[in-house]
Amino acid sequence: MNDLESFQLMDQDDPLQHFRSHFHHNKNEIYFDGNSLGKMPKAVIDQLKETLEVQWGKQLIRSWNEKWLALPTRLSEKYAQFLNADPSEILFGESTSVRLYQVIYALLNSGKYLHHLITDNLNFPTDHYILQGFTKNYKGTTLTRLNYGQEIRAELDMLKDLIKEKPGIICLSLVTYKSAYLYPMQELNQWAEAQGALIIWDLSHAVGAVPIHLKDSGAKVAVGCTYKYMNGGPGAPAFLYINNTLGLELDNPIQGWFGHQNPFNFDEDYTHSVGLERFQNGTPSILSMQALEAGIDLSLAAGISAIRTKSITITTLIKKAVQKELEPFGFEFHSPHESLYRGSHIALLHPHAWPITQALIAGNKSVPKIIPDFRPPNLIRIGIAPLYTQYESVWWLISRLKELGSTHSNLNFSAPITKVP
Ligand SMILES: Cc1ncc(COP(=O)(O)O)c(C=O)c1O
Repeated sequence: MNDLESFQLMDQDDPLQHFRSHFHHNKNEIYFDGNSLGKMPKAVIDQLKETLEVQWGKQLIRSWNEKWLALPTRLSEKYAQFLNADPSEILFGESTSVRLYQVIYALLNSGKYLHHLITDNLNFPTDHYILQGFTKNYKGTTLTRLNYGQEIRAELDMLKDLIKEKPGIICLSLVTYKSAYLYPMQELNQWAEAQGALIIWDLSHAVGAVPIHLKDSGAKVAVGCTYKYMNGGPGAPAFLYINNTLGLELDNPIQGWFGHQNPFNFDEDYTHSVGLERFQNGTPSILSMQALEAGIDLSLAAGISAIRTKSITITTLIKKAVQKELEPFGFEFHSPHESLYRGSHIALLHPHAWPITQALIAGNKSVPKIIPDFRPPNLIRIGIAPLYTQYESVWWLISRLKELGSTHSNLNFSAPITKVP
């Protein structure tokens, strides 16, 4: 690998480098976990201060009309640029899990799709759990969980065969949480459509990291969280996308007052809103939405194309360094090799992944703390968040992994007790 100086030069040439100063950073610490919880944009502090002191503290209930009722719509307008969809097709609020449950329930009730649910072994646990719940709680629903026998990539022929055999409602993560495999969304949407089936895309690991073209790719439904690459903060509101033609034919199974056509008429009976707002449930979480807006604004200013270019450059650099320098020390590149099929994180397998991760996080006098994340039993994930990840950090990471790979038998960290989300 080249020396530290050449990586520092790449930082100097990085067109996104000035975005880093918009985030809070800790001294002597390198963060590679923006794919789990994104860093805090500095603007959030002022944003929330204003919301707390003026909007809530002073203006109180008046702020609903003055500021808050317009906020979810404004977020949808901004987000439409990342999803390449119409703002009227995007709704903020709740968690990804709740949105997934809500929309699957609505699709099953619609009578438009057979009650076969499909997912694969690459999907995130909450998606599996929500789908499993339907086989218990929604009579006549079946679930097939396709197992490719490995966790790096989907086997598209197997997946297509299953969709053809059991057309219904399929749920996939556009970028998978372990290996960062990126599905060919358009190809699969077209296939599903031809079989009378529909794919729900979980975009949690994709939005703000890879270009997404919901409209052009023929996607009908998508959900996702906003606290990863969008830097929305812990528990930031999730989003729901339903294509306009379908969305206006579905009923929200949770008939809360914010989904009512006229919530402030306080009618006794429910009439759903004319637009996708019918999928709103209760009062939106304004504080979290305010925090999220600062994150969205930064990604919008950078542009997804520049973000993707830097992400590919860095993940490719890491891939080459792993092959050349880390494989002799027992590390295995566990993400797709082609950037076309890879999101913005890298998975490394190592039989001693846990103590190595702990040693990275601990740092020492001569090396900074390096924070990746660990997924049991033996996976280290390295998240690249182009708005603040530096090339120099990649040099430190590879150098430190090389050192730890050759000395791991001396590491003394107890086994993992809890799983970090
Ligand atoms: C693919 C995927 N879906 C969903 C979630 C989380 O869902 P929720 O917003 O319900 O916490 C995560 C969290 O890491 C995820 O990676």
